[in-house]
Amino acid sequence: MDSKQFAALLNEDRRFPPPAEFAARANVADESLYEQAARDREGFWAAQAERLHWFRRWDKVLEWNPPFAQWFLGGKLNVAYNCLDRHLQTHTRTKAAIIWEGEPGDERVLTYLDLHREVCRFANVLRQMGVGKGDRVTIYLPMIPEAAVAMLACTRIGAIHSVVFGGFSAESLRDRINDSRSKVVVTADGGWRRGNIIRMKQIVNEAVVDCASVEKVIVVKRIGHESLVEHGWHPGRDHWYHTLMRNAPVTCPVEEMDAEDPLFILYTSGSTGKPKGVLHTTGGYLTQVAATTKYVFDLKDEDVYWCSADIGWITGHSYVIYGPLANGATTLMYEGAPDYPDRGRIWEIIQKYRVNIFYTAPTLIRSFMRWGEGWPSKYDLSSLRLLGTVGEPINPEAWMWYHKHIGGERCPIVDTWWQTETGAIMATPLPGVVHTKPGSTTRPFPGIEMAVVNEEGQEVPPGAGGYLVVKSPWPSMLRTVWGDPDRYVSTYFGRFGHQVYFTGDGAKRDEDGYYWIIGRVDDVINVSGHRIGTMEVESALVDHPLVAEAAVIGRSHAVKGQAITAFVTLKEGRRGTPDLVDELKQHVVTKIGALARPEEIYFAADLPKTRSGKIMRRLLRDIAEGRALGDTTTLADPNVVAQLRQQYESQE
Ligand code: WT7
Repeated sequence: MDSKQFAALLNEDRRFPPPAEFAARANVADESLYEQAARDREGFWAAQAERLHWFRRWDKVLEWNPPFAQWFLGGKLNVAYNCLDRHLQTHTRTKAAIIWEGEPGDERVLTYLDLHREVCRFANVLRQMGVGKGDRVTIYLPMIPEAAVAMLACTRIGAIHSVVFGGFSAESLRDRINDSRSKVVVTADGGWRRGNIIRMKQIVNEAVVDCASVEKVIVVKRIGHESLVEHGWHPGRDHWYHTLMRNAPVTCPVEEMDAEDPLFILYTSGSTGKPKGVLHTTGGYLTQVAATTKYVFDLKDEDVYWCSADIGWITGHSYVIYGPLANGATTLMYEGAPDYPDRGRIWEIIQKYRVNIFYTAPTLIRSFMRWGEGWPSKYDLSSLRLLGTVGEPINPEAWMWYHKHIGGERCPIVDTWWQTETGAIMATPLPGVVHTKPGSTTRPFPGIEMAVVNEEGQEVPPGAGGYLVVKSPWPSMLRTVWGDPDRYVSTYFGRFGHQVYFTGDGAKRDEDGYYWIIGRVDDVINVSGHRIGTMEVESALVDHPLVAEAAVIGRSHAVKGQAITAFVTLKEGRRGTPDLVDELKQHVVTKIGALARPEEIYFAADLPKTRSGKIMRRLLRDIAEGRALGDTTTLADPNVVAQLRQQYESQE
């Protein structure tokens, strides 16, 4: 966010009380949850944990040896049991668990009974392959029901899943499989995206060549074109999902897991070149995910709930799969792009399935705005009663547009702040109680203690900007970085001591105690709500034979929030050409995936550096955004910036 946008945020004074009709029926309609949590934080979370099914009750709610937390010690539970089996004892058994719509328009509905049966079958398949408690399974699938089945099947037998977003390249996939040392990879022949096929099995083939841990690859037939699998099928290693499922028994005992047993690993970008495997555990994660889903989305038994995130991201884990299913809700999954076959697809789906709750990202809302209100106005959106956003700061104009053109001015908007590492929502309005302000995530969820601090870790006065921190442990916090506990400590608890979690975000708290998130203060770029490390893109660029050095920054972008801009110096005697720009962009796509494609690449004779040799990204950001340069006194060679700016302007 640039300084102008930020200034506008701080002057935002519109307020929206919960609509009376909504508040009258809301799951939470007063301050009691906040008060209860403020009086007894552990008691509050224990009460939330009570809503789950435990094979054995916990002995202790929290064990906090900073910075290591353990929740619900001694408790035993199973996630698949909580998401499926216990609902089979109520009327929920015949209710739709998943409503799925494929991009080409195919439809599937799985009741809780159906989903339970499929999950049991696949759990048996995995067990037969020798997958047991603690083993890792990589899931590389499109948004199809089998993704949910595979995740839940892992949890049923205590295997740790690592879902890798389908847009990542073979190299990224390989690194994630190797880091987790997965035994099994679950994929599909392909997936649909804007009418094109993503050849997922082929990408897996390329990845697993270098993965010694992988014993089996299971392939879902999503597309069904013979050409997708005719090359590179390895008998013995590769198996069709449908063949394995045909012979698998439909019952499967659950593994009784310790509250602190690992549940899943999810890789996310940080400020170094290598993505981190964020590890979540069982009891605390499910407790907070289930509680936030119920209260934040005001979930009712009869609702059709739709979170548009891909299961490759934490939002997909917590709010497409685990949160809704733990609550016995109907969750909608859509496979494809929001603008395929046309820009009305999202609204068409809402109208078709009478969706009540819709949760999406600001970047998509900004795209909708650009496409114009003509698209949503063609559809009946009157079923909607609550809207949510997540992933990046939402600018007040986008908030107002969402409120007016999608919510018909009757739906509260929950702007939910959280991270892969926090596992579940941390700051959000409770929609029946909290008055919203466009652009603010409002208040911490009950039981969450946040603050804005300065460099020394002292809380700043209201209105002042600073670092966003969490002051005490919460149930769904990450427990470690897979295989690298030192990195867990230094990244999150290195800056302000072992008691205080550093989020990596800048924020402001106003006079009313409302939080306004400004954005990342580390070397992480948020492109369309996806996290990308500047160092990852830089290493991909310098991997190209003609590149000597690269510096990558995020600049503000009207739709994506931020866009990736790269400054590149070439090896002696090489000249930058438009063709080379394309080649370098493609190189990044091959190394990381399409989501990391730089928006623009500028060739520079030299990069601005401090006298100690650190690249001054701040100056590059100023150049890319056409701003007056900030402080340049530490710059080793002032000419570098002048030249860069000239080149930047001539290439514009
Ligand atoms: C980063 C975490 C958690 C789901 C998706 C992203 C930014 C997230 C908000 C929000 C302002 C937000 C932060 C955060 N972010 N939600 N409501 N308002 N910023 O997960 O990839 O782990 O990214 O997304 O910068 O640190 P993630």
